[in-house]
Amino acid sequence: MTGVVAYYSRTGKTRFVAQQLAKALGCRVLEISDLKKRIGWIACLRVARDARGKKRTEIEPKTIDTTGYNLICLGTPV
Ligand SMILES: Cc1cc2nc3c(=O)[nH]c(=O)nc-3n(C[C@H](O)[C@H](O)[C@H](O)COP(=O)(O)O)c2cc1C
Repeated sequence: MTGVVAYYSRTGKTRFVAQQLAKALGCRVLEISDLKKRIGWIACLRVARDARGKKRTEIEPKTIDTTGYNLICLGTPV
């Protein structure tokens, strides 16, 4: 099995789970970054506003080549 655990994490909880899952499954782990600064309480208010407005943001990497993986796990905060 060749797998990848791709995740986004703002405050680190999803990152912790993604890393543990990848280790347990022997998979690659891949962090997806939000190019907008999202730390601090003002940023947290912006997060809530953007989430409510379903506003998209720029991420890195923009695309992931999934060919060759037979297991893809995606981790995000709620
Ligand atoms: C704007 C905003 C909205 C959130 N909404 C929910 C929610 O609806 N339900 C929930 O269980 N957690 C919600 N959370 C809590 C996050 O999902 C939780 O803190 C998560 O563990 C953060 O993951 P991270 O540390 O990987 O960023 C929300 C957090 C933020 C900042």
